[in-house]
Amino acid sequence: MKRVFSGVQPTGTIHLGNYLGAMKRFVDLQDDYESIFCIVDLHALTVPRDPEELRNKTRELALFYLAIGLDPEKTTIFTQSSVSAHSELAWLLQCVAHVGELNRMTQYKEKGQGKDTVTAGLYTYPVLMAADILLYQTEVVPVGEDQKQHLELTRDIAQRFNNRYGEAFTIPEPLINEIGARIMALDEPTKKMSKSAESPNNYIGLLEEPKIINKKIMRAVTDSENEVRFDPENKPGISNLLTIYSLMSETPVSELEQKYQGLGYGAFKKDLAEVVVDRISEIQDRYRRWEKDGGVEDVLRQGAEKVSVIAEETMERVKDLMGLYRV
Ligand code: TYM
Repeated sequence: MKRVFSGVQPTGTIHLGNYLGAMKRFVDLQDDYESIFCIVDLHALTVPRDPEELRNKTRELALFYLAIGLDPEKTTIFTQSSVSAHSELAWLLQCVAHVGELNRMTQYKEKGQGKDTVTAGLYTYPVLMAADILLYQTEVVPVGEDQKQHLELTRDIAQRFNNRYGEAFTIPEPLINEIGARIMALDEPTKKMSKSAESPNNYIGLLEEPKIINKKIMRAVTDSENEVRFDPENKPGISNLLTIYSLMSETPVSELEQKYQGLGYGAFKKDLAEVVVDRISEIQDRYRRWEKDGGVEDVLRQGAEKVSVIAEETMERVKDLMGLYRV
């Protein structure tokens, strides 16, 4: 079986963009791949966080992983900070990555914009991400569009390492959805849906109440045409809603366009809200069940134990190849 790895940060509100751009795919992949999914809590530290909130968000994300349908019998779930090899490999790879490469990372530029100071961690963040992936000899990495550049960097670092020191790493392939790789904000459909958005009207959170979801969808920004047609360039709002509808109901966009021909945005949004609420309610039910029954800590503990074995093998090889003297 090929190995798949991905990660999500335990920050902000886990939203439909995270779900449709990446996490839903994790569930689809778990039957056909050896699956490892990580809660990347070290990445969350690149900006100052309240410690208690970080702990809560980490547990919350573990519950989400289970609630969306990841099966701990088939899939390994763990927190990044519980396997210290992530930080260790990140340092070794920082000595392979180039400053010029990190300077080109658009996410760093965006996140740092307008701030007086940014942490060194925010700058080297993509190298930690490379370490996450390379540590497990990952073959496939399902992510949203915004992580594509980080995946390219990961491949470059792996290739450079292999050429310089000898074969240590599998070169990973990104897996990016054809549709839904970039879910847009509901209130500003030319920008992506984002966990760190200032306005809650930007996103739909996976734990939000049906009433709120309904309201957010009915109020989502569209255009003045009233014609349900997929045209991201000229009609970004309605195209985004069509994408969400299509992925949530597993119906092709063309079929939806036909269904709503002549019916206008009101009818379309009403049905979309129902589809989203139905699907999210299932996730919320499973979330509450896991929360009530307990067991999430065991899943994380066992997950960390399992992946540590793979991580150690990679670390041994990397240290040997780099010439770290060990007795
Ligand atoms: P994060 O936590 O920001 O997002 C988690 C996943 O959700 C995707 N995503 C979206 N997809 C579509 N539309 C959107 N609006 C949207 N917003 C977010 C992201 O692309 C991502 O797949 N650096 C990563 C976490 C990470 C990681 C890794 C991922 C750390 N190590 C190793 C893969 C492999 C991040 O900050 O994702």
